[in-house]
Amino acid sequence: MSFSGKKILILVTGGIAAYKINTLVRDFVKENAEVQVLMTPDAQKFVSALTLSTLSKKPVFTEFYGDNGTWNSHVEMALWADLILVAPCTANTLAKMVNGLCDNLVMATYLSAKCPVFIAPAMDLDMYQHPSTNINLEKAKQFGHHIIPAEHGELASGLIGQGRMSEPHTILEVIGKYFNSKHSQLSGKKILITAGPTYEAIDPVRFIGNHSSGKMGFSLAKEAAERGALVTLVSGPTTLSIEHPNIKLIRVTSAKEMLTEVMEVFDSVDVAIASAAVADYTPKVVAQEKIKKNEDSFTIELVKNPDILKTMGQQKKHQILVGFALETQNEMANAKGKLEKKNLDMIVLNSLRDEGAGFQKDTNKINLITKDEIVTFDLKPKTEVAKDILDAVEARMENK
Ligand code: C5P
Repeated sequence: MSFSGKKILILVTGGIAAYKINTLVRDFVKENAEVQVLMTPDAQKFVSALTLSTLSKKPVFTEFYGDNGTWNSHVEMALWADLILVAPCTANTLAKMVNGLCDNLVMATYLSAKCPVFIAPAMDLDMYQHPSTNINLEKAKQFGHHIIPAEHGELASGLIGQGRMSEPHTILEVIGKYFNSKHSQLSGKKILITAGPTYEAIDPVRFIGNHSSGKMGFSLAKEAAERGALVTLVSGPTTLSIEHPNIKLIRVTSAKEMLTEVMEVFDSVDVAIASAAVADYTPKVVAQEKIKKNEDSFTIELVKNPDILKTMGQQKKHQILVGFALETQNEMANAKGKLEKKNLDMIVLNSLRDEGAGFQKDTNKINLITKDEIVTFDLKPKTEVAKDILDAVEARMENK
């Protein structure tokens, strides 16, 4: 990971995790970033300005006023930065940030900045869980700031819980991914992803569903978000959860609900990927009460569900549309048929005959099929498969 030419302004506040900032500054500098450190008055009790200045190879500022009638221009430093990182960010500084307080050099610089802001909170577990901290983190997200969540583990108080500042290598990775996403075709683009199974109600307690875990769709959403896309993830029932400032997760249950949410945004997106395993059929009538086992046999009449992907294909204008085909036989022919019938730009074929591919697994083995070519990939983790799929989408965007 190289930060060559990147100007990073690190705002250090007064928490014990400040001792980790020495490592972080050294690592940024090693990767060729230009680092400017500012500290709150309390931060100096935890880490020395001299150490940080030696590691960053720049003077560290803590006060508005310098020697001999000079001042440290918060405006100049704020406009210089490509990115601001507040780390560790105490509950106090977080509260000041979201309320516009400006009682030290760090706050004045933060308020003068126009660049992206990353916040690595660090505090004791009860402070981290306090409703006011939650509200302040939510507000910071609404400002468009990126939160690097605190980790779980032993805290300076001796208690164990969430509140430890993310480790320097994690912070470095998050910021590295952010800069990389700026080069992506997907950066700033809108993408819709469907994921998971759908559940079709039989009565208030039973449903027809399938074994889809949602892992492929969630991996796609995470990767797209890390490349800077604004993701709407419409997912059927799954135990997975995801938090990213670029991802809006909409949970649905049935195919009809999924269709409604998908069509709400389809017109406005640049890319849509349908990885959901939508139930093809749904009970014609949903019993209002739990069905009793009075009879020896029992029949449910099923009617066809809407084909969400086909509906998108029919309404497609500028969008790049990607579907999935999970097949057990005649894989290639079936997938190619769907590519055409559903008016897709690309179809991802996975065969249940391939070991390690398909439902519930953490790995997948895919073929990417377009009108002109078929590319076969090795078995790999779904997180890596997501990269292959999005690389192909980006290549298509580039040629459009
Ligand atoms: O026709 P088949 O179900 O095999 O097509 C699979 C593809 O179509 C997947 O991308 C799936 O998400 C999508 N699909 C859909 N709505 C359905 C059935 C499938 O969006 N009712």
